[in-house]
Amino acid sequence: MYNSKIAAFEKYVPDNIVTNDDLSKVVDTSDEWISTRTGIKQRRISKCENTAELCFNSAKRLLDKTGLSPLDIDMIITATITSDYMTPSVACIVQGRLGAENAVCFDLSAACSGFVYALSTADKFIKSGACRNVIVIGGETLSKILDWNDRATCVLFGDGAGSALVTLSDEKMILAEDLHSDGVKFESLSAGYVPVKNPFYNEKFDENSFYMQMNGREIFNFAVKKVPESILAVSGKVNVSLSEVKYIVPHQANSRIVESIAKKLKISMDKFYLNLDKFGNTSAASIPIALCEMEEKGLIKKDDKIIITGFGGGLTWGSMLFKM
Ligand code: COA
Repeated sequence: MYNSKIAAFEKYVPDNIVTNDDLSKVVDTSDEWISTRTGIKQRRISKCENTAELCFNSAKRLLDKTGLSPLDIDMIITATITSDYMTPSVACIVQGRLGAENAVCFDLSAACSGFVYALSTADKFIKSGACRNVIVIGGETLSKILDWNDRATCVLFGDGAGSALVTLSDEKMILAEDLHSDGVKFESLSAGYVPVKNPFYNEKFDENSFYMQMNGREIFNFAVKKVPESILAVSGKVNVSLSEVKYIVPHQANSRIVESIAKKLKISMDKFYLNLDKFGNTSAASIPIALCEMEEKGLIKKDDKIIITGFGGGLTWGSMLFKM
C-alpha cells in the first residue's frame, strides 16, 4: 500500500483589489452591511485573466518552489466551476503551458468543496500506485458568472487560484476524509445553466439562470448543520481530538458561518484560519489560498495536524484531516 502527503502550497490571485466601498458604487450596498453580515472587506476581481491563466500561474509557482520538473508530474486535477471552455479542461490547458507532458489531466466539479474532493482523488491515485506526483488546483473566475446588478450575491465572491503538490510518502499523512453530496437541494445554489437549443427544440429558460442564484439563508443553515458534523466525523474516524488539531481551515464563505460552527463545536475561533476579509469567497480556490498564506506566514510546522472543510453547490460538503 502506498501513502500520500501534501508537500507544498502555492497561490495566484489577480492584482485588481475591489473594496466594499468600490462595490457600493456598482450596487446599492455598503461596507457596513457587507462587513457585518459576511466579514468580507475586499476581494480580487480579474481584469483580463481567465481561470486557466490563474491556475497556470499558481501551478508554475508550485513547480518553481518545489524544484520538480514538469515532466515529473503524473496528474493535474483542477477543481473549478468557472472553466474557460466546456472542453478542453482547465487542467489540460495548464498542462500544455507547463509542458507537463506525462500528466493525465481533468477538471472536477464540486463547487466550494472542489478542493477537498480533488485532494481526495489525488490521494486515491497515489495510494493505488498509479501516480507519484499530482498537482491539485482550485481556481475560479467567479466574477464572470455573477449578476453585477444582484447585491445579494455579487458582493460575496472573488477570483483566484491555489494549488497543492500531493506526492508519494513513506508515512501515512492524509489521515481521514469525510465527503458528502445532496443533489435534492441542488437549486439552493446554482450557476451556468445552458438550455437545450437546436434546430428541433428551443428551450424556454430564465435568462438569469446563467448567473449565480443562491438561497442565502438555506446555504447558511446547511453549512452550520453539516460542517460541524463533518469535522467531528473526520476526527472521530482516527480518534484525533480537536484539541490535537492545530488549525481548521474552512471554505472561506462567511465569518458568521464559521463563528456558528465554532460555537457548535465549543472551540475557539482562534483554531480557524480566516482570510476571507481579503479575498471573499473564491469557491474551490479558497482553501488552498488560505493554506498557502498560512505556509507563507510560518503558521504550519512539520507534523501539525490540520483539518480542511468545504461546503457549497451540489450540495456538496466534506472534510479531510492531514498531517504536514
Ligand atoms: N447590501 C445591502 N443590503 C443587502 C445586500 C447588500 N449587499 N444584500 C441583501 N441586502 C438586503 C436584502 O435586500 C434584505 O433587505 P430587506 O430586509 O429590506 O428585504 C436584507 O439585506 C436582508 O437580506 P437577507 O438575504 O435576509 O440577509 P441575510 O441576513 O440572510 O444575509 C447573506 C445574507 C447572503 C450574507 C447570508 O444569507 C449568508 O451569508 N448566506 C450564506 C451564503 C454563502 O456563504 N454562500 C456561499 C456558500 S459556498
